[in-house]
Amino acid sequence: MATQPIIKLHDGNKMPQLGLGVWKASNEEASNAVTTAIDTGYRHIDTAAIYENEEGVGEALSTISVPREELFITTKLWNDDQLHAQDALETSLKKLRLDYVDLYLIHWPKADQGNFVAAWKQLQKLKEQGLAKSVGVCNFHIPHLQKLKDETGIFPVVNQIELHPLLQQRQLHAWNATHNIATEAWSPLAQGGDGVFDQPLIQKLAQKYGKTPAQVVIRWHLDSGLIVIPKSVTPKRIRENFEVFDFKLEKEELAEVAKLDAGKRLGPDPDTF
Ligand SMILES: NC(=O)c1ccc[n+]([C@@H]2O[C@H](COP(=O)([O-])OP(=O)(O)OC[C@H]3O[C@@H](n4cnc5c(N)ncnc54)[C@H](OP(=O)(O)O)[C@@H]3O)[C@@H](O)[C@H]2O)c1
Repeated sequence: MATQPIIKLHDGNKMPQLGLGVWKASNEEASNAVTTAIDTGYRHIDTAAIYENEEGVGEALSTISVPREELFITTKLWNDDQLHAQDALETSLKKLRLDYVDLYLIHWPKADQGNFVAAWKQLQKLKEQGLAKSVGVCNFHIPHLQKLKDETGIFPVVNQIELHPLLQQRQLHAWNATHNIATEAWSPLAQGGDGVFDQPLIQKLAQKYGKTPAQVVIRWHLDSGLIVIPKSVTPKRIRENFEVFDFKLEKEELAEVAKLDAGKRLGPDPDTF
C-alpha cells in the first residue's frame, strides 16, 4: 500500500492529505465508495450533514476492520444549525455510527445570519468534550477568519474552500498558511469533465508522467501543500485518484499550472451565499 502524506494541524492532530469526498452520492453510493476507498488505502473521508449520506458512510465504516484511530472522518455543521451545534453533531455521530469525528467544520459563514462566531464557540466545547478531535471551517474569507480570532482568540485548523487549477485562491491560501490554517481544496477536480482535464498543459503533464489528467491535478494539489478530497463513486476512479504517490511535479510545472488560474468559481461565493 502506498505511503500517504500527512498534514500536521495547529492543534497537534494529524490529517491524511488525500481523502475521498462524497458530495452528491446517495447513501448506497457513499457506502460502496467508502468501502472501495478504504480497501484502496484511503483513510480520510469527507462528508457533511447536508449531503444526506452520513448513514451510508456510517454503514461502510461499521463493516471495515481498520482501527478507528487510523481513520480520519470529517463532517460539517449545516447553516440552519449554527445555533444548535451540539445537537447537530450528536445527530451526525449517530448516523455515522461513531463516538467522535476527527474534524467538524462550519459549512458556510452565512455572515448575514450573524451566527458563525456563536457556532465557533460551540465547536470549541465539542472539541473539549472529545466529540470532535479538531474543529475548523469551510468557505471562510479573511474577514470571517479574523473575526473568529478577534472574538475567541482561536483560528480554525482547516479552511476548506473551493480550489482547483481554474480557481487557485492564492491570496487566501497564503493568508491561511501565514496563520497556520491548513487549506483544504473542495471541487479539486473542478467537478470532473473537460474544464481542467482537457487543458493542453494538463494533457502534456499526463503524457509526460504516464498518468491521467485527474492524477496530475491531484498531484498539483499535493505538491501545492493542499489537503485534497476528490469525489468519486466509480471504483476505478477511486483507485486511480489514490495512485498519485509515485511521482511529483517539478517547480517549473507548478508555475505553469499557476497560469491556468481564471478566477472561475463553480460553487457559490461565500460573501453572498
Ligand atoms: N465545504 C464545501 O462547501 C464543499 C463544497 C463542495 C464539495 N465539497 C467536498 O469536496 C468534495 C469534492 O468536490 P466535488 O464533489 O464538488 O468535485 P470534484 O471532486 O472536483 O469532482 C467530482 C467529479 O469528478 C468525477 N471524477 C472523479 N475522479 C475522476 C477521474 N479520475 N476521472 C474523471 N472524472 C473523475 C466524479 O465522477 P464519479 O463520481 O461519477 O466517478 C465527479 O463527477 C465533495 O465530494 C465534498 O466532500 C465541500
